[in-house]
Amino acid sequence: MDTATHFTPILEQVLEEVRPLTLHGKVASYIPELSHIDRSKLGMALYLPDGGIYTAGDAHERFSIQSISKVFTLVMAYRTLGNALWERVGREPSGNPFNSLVQLETDKGVPRNPFINAGALVVTDILCSQYVNPHLAILEFIRQVSGVPDINFNTRVARSEAQHGFRNAAMANFIKSFGNLKAPVDNVLQAYFHQCSIEMSCAELVRAAQLLVHYGTAPGVSEALLTPSEVRRVASIMLTCGTYDAAGDFAFRIGLPAKSGVGGGILAVVPGRMALCVWSPALDVHGNSLAGAKALELFAGRTGFSIF
Ligand code: DON
Repeated sequence: MDTATHFTPILEQVLEEVRPLTLHGKVASYIPELSHIDRSKLGMALYLPDGGIYTAGDAHERFSIQSISKVFTLVMAYRTLGNALWERVGREPSGNPFNSLVQLETDKGVPRNPFINAGALVVTDILCSQYVNPHLAILEFIRQVSGVPDINFNTRVARSEAQHGFRNAAMANFIKSFGNLKAPVDNVLQAYFHQCSIEMSCAELVRAAQLLVHYGTAPGVSEALLTPSEVRRVASIMLTCGTYDAAGDFAFRIGLPAKSGVGGGILAVVPGRMALCVWSPALDVHGNSLAGAKALELFAGRTGFSIF
């Protein structure tokens, strides 16, 4: 059977099954600009190593990628520092909400992992030391690996994050007090708020994830961006830390390395096998897309695309 006819109906069927769940959960409102989104949006895209992309629902509509950006900044910082990165940030699940500060004091300003906010701020700080305009470097990197030149920030969202980012500001200052933030706090926060405000569709996110599917290479990018073993490590952190304090439940139900964002997107990747992205704006109590997680669970169950 040809793959287009095989996978598209599964994606469509999964979306119809989870559609009733879009009525449940809450659209993120702590960043006011995010609260205007239509909660009925629902899309899904699959990328396979042969280059095939299969889509269903609102897979071509752009949304705020939010914390999914942390996958790309992690790749960039890993390229910059190599294994020295792990002196600045850990790789253990935190078991706490994504915006929690509690462990930072006992851990002396070294965040548990790169996907909680504290860890993402340290990762972005590394990029602030490397680039004059880190937010533009992040945007350019994402455009390059996805091959989509008109991906952009939503400056209203970035401004809204800055106006309401009291916790992130507290966290950045706290980390700075331990010496684990090198750049000025405001520079790190501005770059971070901008990376979170980038808008992409499910179809564009699976294209950008090609670099993980293909073990560090992306079409149109001449050099390898990561080594295969670094790619496996990024994927392992997605599995253990990518969905915050629900990462264990995600591994149990879905069995895919994944990274979620409060815009309602979830990007899942299995190196060598596939990238899968789902978008539904309403979130569960952990900040993960409610219908999106169910869609991944159904899709993984039906196709056997799981690492277990
Ligand atoms: O730091 C924040 O609050 C957001 N800009 C990003 C949060 C996010 O997506 C975490 N996700 N679940």
